[in-house]
Amino acid sequence: MRTEAGEPANTSGGSNSITAAVLERPGEPLRVEDLLLDAPGPGEVRVRLLASGVCHSDLHMVEGEWGDTPPIVLGHEGCGVVEELGPGVTAPRLGQVVVLDWFASCGACSDCLAGRPWVCRRTRSTENVLPDGTTRIHRPDGSPVLPYLSVATFATASVVSATSAVPIPEGLPPEVASLIGCSVTTGVSSVLRAATPPPGSPAVVFGLGGVGLSIVMGLALAGAAPIVAVDRVLAKLDVALAIGATTTIVAGDADATVEAVRDATSGGALFAFEAIGLEATIDQAMRSLRAGGTAVLVGMTPFGVRASFDAFDLVDRSLAVVGTNYGYGVPREDFPRYADLYLQGRLPIDRLIDDRIGLQEVNGALDAMRRGEGVRRVIVYP
Ligand SMILES: NC(=O)c1ccc[n+]([C@@H]2O[C@H](COP(=O)([O-])OP(=O)(O)OC[C@H]3O[C@@H](n4cnc5c(N)ncnc54)[C@H](O)[C@@H]3O)[C@@H](O)[C@H]2O)c1
Ligand SMILES: [Zn+2]
Ligand SMILES: [Zn+2]
Repeated sequence: MRTEAGEPANTSGGSNSITAAVLERPGEPLRVEDLLLDAPGPGEVRVRLLASGVCHSDLHMVEGEWGDTPPIVLGHEGCGVVEELGPGVTAPRLGQVVVLDWFASCGACSDCLAGRPWVCRRTRSTENVLPDGTTRIHRPDGSPVLPYLSVATFATASVVSATSAVPIPEGLPPEVASLIGCSVTTGVSSVLRAATPPPGSPAVVFGLGGVGLSIVMGLALAGAAPIVAVDRVLAKLDVALAIGATTTIVAGDADATVEAVRDATSGGALFAFEAIGLEATIDQAMRSLRAGGTAVLVGMTPFGVRASFDAFDLVDRSLAVVGTNYGYGVPREDFPRYADLYLQGRLPIDRLIDDRIGLQEVNGALDAMRRGEGVRRVIVYP
């Protein structure tokens, strides 16, 4: 067995000891515990995590909004260093810094081959297993623990599909690189790949967490104007202004909020992004549109939520509604591209980070997200 430093790994029966945050069952706090991580199999690599963001999709899991689950290591927004290659793996290379792709598209179906990996139906990631349908994580008693979205980044190390470990240029702080794994790619790609607004398009973003603020950054890159940012937490509005929003609105009564957006966009937005996952704000996004406008839904609701719209209005004013998994991102292309844009000073990802924390503090970060405090807390591994 090889490690990055060439030192013997801390092994037990071919497995490494790791520390990870486990969701035993929804509604309970995560338990930070020592687990065993098997060596990578064919087509897999072991990655030593450097940093992991805490995303609202982790919180949806904790709240049980996406159903029940067996014990699972959460976290899906991470970066690390490749420290062991499974049989047959030629890329990435040992020692490379990688950002993890939580969708793990198959790479071989017609959608993947057509350059639309975000609609791949052969991924096993959404079942929280590796592409071969199994997990490399287990407890000392042998019982399996699943890797959330196949990457399990609330852990000191993780075994992932080699194709999920995407190399990025050197020079990014790990906490910045980690956010490229989910919120940044989802938000920026939802603008640059899904919406593709022509320069000068009036746009609005509902919800200014890591995802919504990344949409704001994407809109700034695309030259949208004005860029209206809506949240109920004042501090988020200040961050939005600092990274490219031109107008901010404190979310209040639904009618008043829609009216304020329509005023700020001289009659309605051409693109309205929803980055929360609430029926009420999906409705507000639809009602904020001008004729010919597009609502881009990025926030994820609990299972079973149905949203509605005025069907006559949709046809009469030629509106469109688009759902975007991973923002239509293509990790292999977008991760290194967004890393470069950060290094060029054109994508201020660091402005999204309010705290660097240890793995033990993960429940505090989830609580802060429940209260709407701060943007991204990032776990940094020693
Ligand atoms: N489409 C995808 O592939 C994808 C990827 C990542 C995350 N997501 C989803 O995107 C959503 C946002 O994730 P995040 O990590 O940025 O979450 P977050 O909790 O950090 O941000 C949500 C923001 O919405 C604001 N908000 C809540 N209720 C509001 C209301 N009624 N009006 C206005 N603002 C309100 C909060 O104050 C907060 O700033 C989640 O549902 C998450 O699951 C989707
Ligand atoms: Zn996420
Ligand atoms: Zn596929």
